[in-house]
Amino acid sequence: MSQKTRVLVVVASSRPHRVGPAVADWFVRATRTTAAELGVDVEIADLATIGLPFLDEPDHPSTGRYVHAHSRAWSARVSAADAIVLVTPEYNGGMPATLKNALDYLYDEWAFKPVLFLGYGNTSAGTRGVQMARQVTTALRMIPVGADLFLRIADTVLDGTVPGSPALDDRARDALAELYRIASVVAPLAAAAPVADDPWHGLTLRRATPDDADEILVLQRCCWVDEALANDTLDIAALHEDAGDVRDWLGTWSVWCLRDRARLVGAVRARRSGDTWQIGRLMVAPDQRGRGIGRALLTYAEAQAPAGLTRTASLTTGSASTHNIRLYRSSGYETVATGAGTVDLVKPL
Ligand SMILES: Cc1cc2nc3c(=O)[nH]c(=O)nc-3n(C[C@H](O)[C@H](O)[C@H](O)COP(=O)(O)O)c2cc1C
Repeated sequence: MSQKTRVLVVVASSRPHRVGPAVADWFVRATRTTAAELGVDVEIADLATIGLPFLDEPDHPSTGRYVHAHSRAWSARVSAADAIVLVTPEYNGGMPATLKNALDYLYDEWAFKPVLFLGYGNTSAGTRGVQMARQVTTALRMIPVGADLFLRIADTVLDGTVPGSPALDDRARDALAELYRIASVVAPLAAAAPVADDPWHGLTLRRATPDDADEILVLQRCCWVDEALANDTLDIAALHEDAGDVRDWLGTWSVWCLRDRARLVGAVRARRSGDTWQIGRLMVAPDQRGRGIGRALLTYAEAQAPAGLTRTASLTTGSASTHNIRLYRSSGYETVATGAGTVDLVKPL
């Protein structure tokens, strides 16, 4: 994989004085060196602080249509991960309702992502809870890696913490390495998973990879020639980039490509800048314009804003790019600044 592998450690329990965060903290601590060696970023998603209500979306998650900000934030968080660790207790022989709810919220976001279970409990050490969670994750097309860890609370939890032991820490390191190994192999499969049922009318949206750079460059030049004509200038960065430049920003931006079978027909990129979600390089092949593709890509990019970014989505375009400006204004953007031939627009998320 070209970028760092991102592992999301989901803490499933939510009650006061729970053990879950201590189990997750131990796993992160025990695997820190291995993660650094492998180039793995580990992030904890605590369902107690995320606070998802019981599933309240009107549409099936497979449509990718989320009306609530909490669903979009959860979707973006899971979408950004390459592999998942589920830290789950056993409640009455099963998984906690919080975990089932968090899984049910999404659909394609989980697909083809390797999942490692970190179960804990009393006599059964969480095995029955994990058994149930495994069944559900399989329905979501996740890939259980099988290197699961089970902690018997009486043997492993001391004063509310999990101190670990050389043997246990070793097993955690091996489990992370196995998760990474499988994530590396299935990454193209996960990237190719449709992000929603079919809101794109037969087109396929997926995260861009460095292999897309050459085609993005061609589409970009094609689209920005129109901008050059409209604004009567060749002083436009997008026109001067080469494939190496595109490959570079593919590593620092989240980029999505829209294809009609093999052909690239649209793309958009986004990234966090402070507390702003920057969106740019929204491009649609000239012969495909007028089908709503640009607006759909823009809406999709907005919805990928990570949790906690509440300020604005921002865009910059040429001041004479009337078609773009019309699209942005009708999508809720307002002009905040005009520069030398450019316009900055923002929209509250
Ligand atoms: C509602 C409930 C049901 C439980 N059922 C089981 C069980 O079936 N098997 C088990 O080994 N432990 C069971 N326990 C004990 C939990 O494993 C233990 O309390 C653990 O700390 C729960 O995880 P948490 O602290 O992160 O919530 C249960 C605990 C609760 C609160």
